Amino acid sequence: MSLTLRYGDRAVTPLAGETVLNALLRAGIDVPFSCKAGACHTCLSLCIEGNVPEKAQRGLAAHLLEKRYFLPCKCKAVSDMSIAPALESDLVDPALFDEPVAAATCAAASAELPYPEPDPELWAELEDGKTVRRVLEDFYERVYADPLLSPFFGRVTKDRVTDKQYSFMKQCVTGEKVYFGDRPRNAHHWMIISEALFEHRQALMLQALQAQKLSPGQISRWVRIEEHFRPDMVKTEVWPRRVGEEEIFIEGFASETLMDATVCDHCGAEIAAGTTVAYHRRLGQVSCRVCASGMPHTASA
Ligand code: HEM
Repeated sequence: MSLTLRYGDRAVTPLAGETVLNALLRAGIDVPFSCKAGACHTCLSLCIEGNVPEKAQRGLAAHLLEKRYFLPCKCKAVSDMSIAPALESDLVDPALFDEPVAAATCAAASAELPYPEPDPELWAELEDGKTVRRVLEDFYERVYADPLLSPFFGRVTKDRVTDKQYSFMKQCVTGEKVYFGDRPRNAHHWMIISEALFEHRQALMLQALQAQKLSPGQISRWVRIEEHFRPDMVKTEVWPRRVGEEEIFIEGFASETLMDATVCDHCGAEIAAGTTVAYHRRLGQVSCRVCASGMPHTASA
């Protein structure tokens, strides 16, 4: 029996095993999301009708449970559902009303941080980078096996991120211009990284640094460099990319007419050249006509 997810005036039939979030995105519905793993809560949505599996509400505050909020990224539908975006007024916990509200910092408006003070002796102590590479290889083994961090790395290989991080650390530690990737603010602009998630990442890094036998002094010098970039990453909402003075939002969907044929990123069906497709600006994924309609493929589709 196929189920129907309703979102405003759109209807989507989830495929077998597909999460509610992926079903909505497949149909080109602009639901905000970041980690797709239940950690960041960016996709938090309201279930107006239908049953919500317990797993899709794990970790949510009591006032959100009461209103039937759930996490579409952790939800495989068990009934028809009618879903709506979160209302800002619902997100404030009424129990906190008596507490003073912290002033919101607008880091999005600030420029990228300059590099920290280099520490070239550290590079020499770490065998001219050989130990740095070992630490990073060990660290990313841990990251890719970690349930909270691995979902962010779904579209990048361990080798690529290790190489990038190596040249980034080399530039930070030695001061030499050897890194050509995005600076941390832009590289992480779409990732909702809470203080707790950042701490969690730092705990994994500490394990790698200790496993590779850095001394306590070397560890604190390494950590100083990484901590310098914390304000460029920790945030509660997606930031635009910044190129010079310009801010570019890479969220949501846009449409484009294909110059060449391609395949649907959801079902693999061929999409002919000349077809106008919706694509997600950040993920770059396109949907074929059937997937974009929200309906499953039938034998004749
Ligand atoms: C919870 C914390 C963090 C998360 C979830 C995270 C996640 C990621 C992910 C998914 C990428 C790959 C982006 C891509 O190629 O599409 C990345 C790249 C990168 N990250 Fe992080 N990161 C975190 C913390 C840090 C820290 C503390 C640093 C250094 C101070 C750092 C430096 C970098 C650099 C240099 C890149 C390469 C950027 C590029 O490819 O242009 N990250 N990070």
